Amino acid sequence: MNKPTYYITTPIYYSSGKLHIGHCYTTVICDAIARFKRMDGYDVFYLTGTDEHGQKVQQKAEAAGVTPKQFVDVLHEQIVDLWKVLNISYDKFIRTTDDYHEKTVQKIYEKLLANGDIYKSTYEGWYCTPCESFWTETQLVDGKCPDCGREVKLQKEESYFFRLGKYQDKLLKFYEENPEFISPKSRMNEMINNFIKPGLKDLCISRTTFDWGVKLPFDTKHVAYVWVDALTNYITALGYLQEDQTLFDKFWPADLHMVGKEIVRFHTIIWPALLMALDLPLPKKVYGHGWLLFGNDKMSKSKGNVVDPTTLANRYGADVIRYYLLREIPFGSDGNYTNEALLTRTNADLVNDLGNLVSRTTAMITQYFGGTVPQPNVYTDLDKELVSLCEGTLDKVRKDMEALSAPDALSDIFRIIQRANKYIDETMPWTLNKNGEKDRLATVMYVLTECIRFAATMLVPFIPDTAGRIFEKIGLPLPTDFSELDRFGKIGKGVMVHKGDNLFDRIDVDKELKELDKLAADEQTPEKTDSQSEVIAIEDFAKIKLTTAKVLSCERVAKSDKLLVMKLQVGDEIRQVVSGIAQYYTPEYMIGKTVVLVSNLKPAKIRGVESNGMILCAADGKKVVFVTPEKEMESGKEVR
Ligand code: MSP
Repeated sequence: MNKPTYYITTPIYYSSGKLHIGHCYTTVICDAIARFKRMDGYDVFYLTGTDEHGQKVQQKAEAAGVTPKQFVDVLHEQIVDLWKVLNISYDKFIRTTDDYHEKTVQKIYEKLLANGDIYKSTYEGWYCTPCESFWTETQLVDGKCPDCGREVKLQKEESYFFRLGKYQDKLLKFYEENPEFISPKSRMNEMINNFIKPGLKDLCISRTTFDWGVKLPFDTKHVAYVWVDALTNYITALGYLQEDQTLFDKFWPADLHMVGKEIVRFHTIIWPALLMALDLPLPKKVYGHGWLLFGNDKMSKSKGNVVDPTTLANRYGADVIRYYLLREIPFGSDGNYTNEALLTRTNADLVNDLGNLVSRTTAMITQYFGGTVPQPNVYTDLDKELVSLCEGTLDKVRKDMEALSAPDALSDIFRIIQRANKYIDETMPWTLNKNGEKDRLATVMYVLTECIRFAATMLVPFIPDTAGRIFEKIGLPLPTDFSELDRFGKIGKGVMVHKGDNLFDRIDVDKELKELDKLAADEQTPEKTDSQSEVIAIEDFAKIKLTTAKVLSCERVAKSDKLLVMKLQVGDEIRQVVSGIAQYYTPEYMIGKTVVLVSNLKPAKIRGVESNGMILCAADGKKVVFVTPEKEMESGKEVR
């Protein structure tokens, strides 16, 4: 029999900066849902990826003096590494710079044009580059972006428009017929009252003032609006309009697009309208979760309150972070992140409740029964209470997960763990042992091991590493589904426990808080990257060829306020180099100066201009100064 399918997506992450723990929230929740559904008999496809085009990326790459592709390649690797650290079980990772995606976006634009959903006009209005979103004058709040509160720029350019206005009534009708489409419900009202009822304007879907994007096939001066490019990832990843559409036929429409609340608008207005225009079925649900706040601010790098998730995961283990994100923040609402809550939650739930139950039980079985889980005798009423708690929990957890509430699911699972710990205190196995009541002791040990088996099976989707370790400790194979939870009492004869190390070590909260503060201060040194804190061997340094060079000519790169292009004398050779220093130096000032050139850097095109090397600069986040020899030095000389 074919399994039912379940297609779940995270948003694709902007490749414009390092991800923080707030970003991990969406991905970890989706991971727990995807793992739960897989264990619950679904054929799951879990998609995530990176959103790599757009003005923001282009500007950041220019500032870093690298090509946008070089820039996003580095971030892509970091993001993939982070998901590895956090044990994210996605089935596919899409990059919007993937060739198949770019080609399909072009086909989608052609289709929209052919259907009469696109026309050319002039866009005049406000643009928020960090959010990559268009706003009208009246939507601005105090002249700033209503989503992120940052500066917006007045934009006037020739653009293609999507007839979004045409879909206004169809969208309202769809919402009415599918009341579950936008969740939680409050977000549906927000969309209707704030965006649809005031009137949907046609949407500008191409840009001409920068070129880092998918070129429109019918007018190559234009690149696709990054949100259209990004949203379509949900179908291009499945092979839509490509040779092999098997995945698309199998998984579309998506069962769940999980997104942060600030991007619900894109997913519930623009995305369904685009799908209607393409004559495709609409996703079943868009869930807008709340934000992880840090001191009541949305966590964001620009506000300097970033907690690096890799640091945390390396320090405490992925499951500590996963558990905290899944358990602590009421789903749908905002939640405040604090290091203290992370550490105390870990000590209370993972060290005390779960860790203690497993270590006490395995230690007692080792001590009283030589490590073999004994078979039970007659159950007392007290035992039966635990039996029915275990047998009744999966249904509850299933309901919690249907409602997408991981905190409720975890609190239901932990009810077994807490009840079992209390059972130890009630049955006092040490006294049973002392009194020689071996039969009763055997039953108590069996009941405890079964409780652990039930809880750990249900914990697999949430804290997979820990659940795996628990199964090793209780000598059972790691379950891949919930089928063995149909009945209490399934542990057979001869199962051996292995106590081993504690699952989690108790955290000294005060000491760790100080350590974390120190680490956060180090991490917030501007522009410091992980690779900069690594040590390299002298042979690594020897690979970099640094050379003095004299600036012969210098001018601004067209349409860029960040870039200068220079002709450099390097010994007998003349080189052209592009550098992101236009905000700090005028072309006139640069002429005649001696600079230090990384002369064996792979040539690259920046804004379409060939760059053959890179000049060294010092930067402190506010200003940038180029490096120059302390005394006069001819060009072409080695710098060591
Ligand atoms: N690139 C767009 C999405 C395009 S999807 C077609 C984007 N990227 S993002 O990197 O800014 O955000 C990715 C996800 O991280 C979003 O769901 C966003 O809400 C989430 N979060 C970013 N900061 C967050 C918190 N502080 N708290 C919770 N989630 C947060 O938007």
